[in-house]
Amino acid sequence: MSHHDFYHRYGPWALVTGSAQGLGEAFARLLAARGLNLVLTDRQGEKLTAVSESLRAEYGVETRTLACDLAAEDCLASLCALGQELEIGLLVNNAAVSRIQPFLDAPLTAHQNILAVNAAAPLTLAHCLGASMRARRRGGMIFVSSASAIAGTGLVASYAASKAFGWVLAESLWAELQPWGVDVLTIVSGNLDTPAWRQITPRPDEAVWPPVMPPEVAAREALEALGKTPSRVVPGWQNRLVFFFLQRFLPRRQIVAMLYRAMQNRYGTGQP
Ligand SMILES: NC(=O)c1ccc[n+]([C@@H]2O[C@H](COP(=O)([O-])OP(=O)(O)OC[C@H]3O[C@@H](n4cnc5c(N)ncnc54)[C@H](OP(=O)(O)O)[C@@H]3O)[C@@H](O)[C@H]2O)c1
Repeated sequence: MSHHDFYHRYGPWALVTGSAQGLGEAFARLLAARGLNLVLTDRQGEKLTAVSESLRAEYGVETRTLACDLAAEDCLASLCALGQELEIGLLVNNAAVSRIQPFLDAPLTAHQNILAVNAAAPLTLAHCLGASMRARRRGGMIFVSSASAIAGTGLVASYAASKAFGWVLAESLWAELQPWGVDVLTIVSGNLDTPAWRQITPRPDEAVWPPVMPPEVAAREALEALGKTPSRVVPGWQNRLVFFFLQRFLPRRQIVAMLYRAMQNRYGTGQP
């Protein structure tokens, strides 16, 4: 799709959560390059302002920034209110929190926060912004999911479950909203070289397979798939190959065992 067509289908405004860095920032840059104005939101206020200023200077687009925590009700209420004021044609549910730890060793509040940010916030934003998109009979929503949602993944139990929630929600919305001209897409992402990934990975520069992808490449593949690929995209051919092999040839219990072993090899812990 040309940038011009993309703008008319999903513009004039896009909202990207978690857009101060990583994959969210990559989405914001690519959308600005397509001429869309951006509502940028993140809990990292200073970084968010820097991204906003650079997008305005580089692409001449308008921006609005809202520094807040998506687990807070007033944050979501403010974002929904912006949807009344601005014509937001594209929602990118990108922000997420994760924690690598045996389920029972993390406090319950940490799991509850993962649910609030990764599952409840995308649902709320899809509901309030989706209503206007359906009324206008055009728009798009992207939900960022993860390879850890392919099946249960030990050491990130609540994160994996929250990502499965977004994936299934997006699939359901794809079915419901397609006849209204609203495209919904889930990204089942493998490892991306983002600040969060570097922070939690013990040896981030070690060569692994499938390879760790630059976030810009994953975001570009997702934007190219929006409106074309029915409901789901797996960025990177190596990730697609692994995904195909797992789904096609292994029983689910073996996938669960494999994912857990891979997590233990990389991050340790979890055994009696
Ligand atoms: N990186 C990977 O390997 C990978 C793999 C699969 C899927 N994903 C998915 O890709 C998406 C982006 O991940 P990323 O690696 O780019 O993460 P990132 O580098 O941490 O960037 C995410 C941004 O969102 C912000 N954020 C987190 N929780 C928030 C909240 N409650 N309210 C407002 N802002 C919040 C973060 O702020 P803080 O820095 O304060 O947390 C950060 O600025 C996530 O949905 C993640 O699950 C990533």
